[in-house]
Amino acid sequence: MPAANEFSGSDPLQFDRKHLWHPYASMIDPSPVYPVVAANGVRLQLADGRELIDGTSSWWSAMHGYNHPVLNAAAQQQLAAMSNVMFGGLTHPAAVKLGQLLVNLTPAPLTKVFFSDSGSVAVEIAIKMALQFWIAHGQHKKNKLLTIRGGYHGDTFMAMSVCDPVEGMHQLFGSVVAQQFFADKPHTKFGEPFDDSELDSLKKILIDHHEDIAALILEPIVQAAGGMHFYSADYLQQVRHLCDDYDVLLICDEIATGFGRTGKLFACEHSGVSPDIMCLGKAITGGYLTLAATLCTDRIANGICSGKPGALMHGPTFMANALACAIACASIELLISQPWQRTVRNIAQHLREGLEPARALSSIADVRVLGAIGVIEMREPVNVAQLQQQFVDRGLWVRPFGKFIYTMPPFVIGNNDLESVIGGMVEVAALL
Ligand SMILES: Cc1ncc(COP(=O)(O)O)c(C=O)c1O
Repeated sequence: MPAANEFSGSDPLQFDRKHLWHPYASMIDPSPVYPVVAANGVRLQLADGRELIDGTSSWWSAMHGYNHPVLNAAAQQQLAAMSNVMFGGLTHPAAVKLGQLLVNLTPAPLTKVFFSDSGSVAVEIAIKMALQFWIAHGQHKKNKLLTIRGGYHGDTFMAMSVCDPVEGMHQLFGSVVAQQFFADKPHTKFGEPFDDSELDSLKKILIDHHEDIAALILEPIVQAAGGMHFYSADYLQQVRHLCDDYDVLLICDEIATGFGRTGKLFACEHSGVSPDIMCLGKAITGGYLTLAATLCTDRIANGICSGKPGALMHGPTFMANALACAIACASIELLISQPWQRTVRNIAQHLREGLEPARALSSIADVRVLGAIGVIEMREPVNVAQLQQQFVDRGLWVRPFGKFIYTMPPFVIGNNDLESVIGGMVEVAALL
C-alpha cells in the first residue's frame, strides 16, 4: 500500500478536483490546487519536486514551521501513551499542563479554560458563555451581541452573525443569521493618535441598547480575515471602559493574533486590556492539529455555574484532544523558551523595509506591517488563482484574498527566505 503521504491511483488530482471540496470553492469549476507531499521548516514540497517558501504559515497557524523535531517528539510521546480519551468524567496530563500554560500566560483575570476543536467553535462557546452568564443572572433580555464592522470570527452560524455584515455571509443566509449590533470600525491606525469621535457609533448603540446586549466581541488590534486592518490600541482601551460602564461583557477573539503574531503574546496586551472571555486557536498547536480554547474569568464561570442548570452547556466529543494538547504544550513551551519578541521584531523590520517600495505603485492603496504580519492592500480585488500561480512560479506560497497580498510567515523563517517572500510580494503586486 502506498503511504498516506504519496499520491496513488490513476489520477489523484482529477479525483481531488471531482470529489473534494476546498475552502470557499466551487465543485463545478474549482480553482487549481497544488499537491504537497511533504513540508519541512518553511518549505512545502510539491509532488513534482518543486519547493515553495511558505509565507502563510498554513493560515497563520504553523508558527514554528513544519516537521519540527520538538513538536514531532511531543506527538510521538503522547501517541505512545494514548492519542485521546474522552474528557467527560476523565482528564489527562496534557490537558492539565496546557490549561496551566494558558492560565499563566494570558492576562491575569482569565482563569478558566474550555477546550474545543476549532476557532469557530471557540467563538460559539464564548458567545454561549456570555449568554448563559446573563441567563444565570435572570437577565434574559441581554441576548444580543455587539461587534465592529470589518470583523471575521468564523463560519459557524453565531460566528457568522458577528462577521462583517457586508463582506460576510449575512446576505446569503438572510434571516437565519442572528441579527446583531454593528458599530463603525475604528479607522485610526495602530500607533497613530486616536480620534475619540470614532467611538460615537459604538457609544450610541450602548446607550440605546445595552439592556439587550450580552457581550461585545472583536478581534483585538488586528482585524485579520476581514481586511488585515491594524487599529488603535487606544480604541480597544476605550472599548473596555465602555463595556464596564454599560455592563456588557468583552470577548476578545485572539484566534488569529494569539501567541506572539503581533509582537505581544496576545494582542490585547498592546492596550493593557483584559477581556472577560478570550478565544484562542490556530497557532495554539503550532499548526499541527486542530484545537482551540475559550478562557474566561472567575466572575463569568461562577456566574454561569451558580445559575440553572449549574453547568456550561457544551461538550464536544474531541474536547481537550490529548494528542493536540500535548503538541500545544510543546509548541507554547518552545515559543516562550526562545527570544520570540526579538524574532518577531526582526521579521517586522524586514517587512517594513522590503515592502516599502510597493507604496510607489499606482495600483496599491496601502502598505502596512504589525509584528510578523505584512500587508500590501491593492486598490482592487485580485484574481487569487492568477496571483497564486505567479507566486508558485517564483517558488513561494503566498495566498492573497480580496484586495490583500499579505504574509504571516512562520517565525522560524530565515532572513534570506523572508527577503524572497517580500521581494515576490512586491514583484507580483507590480504586475497589477
Ligand atoms: C479571528 C478569527 N476568529 C475565528 C476564526 C475561525 O477559526 P477556524 O477557521 O479555526 O474555525 C478565524 C479564522 O480565520 C479567525 O481569524
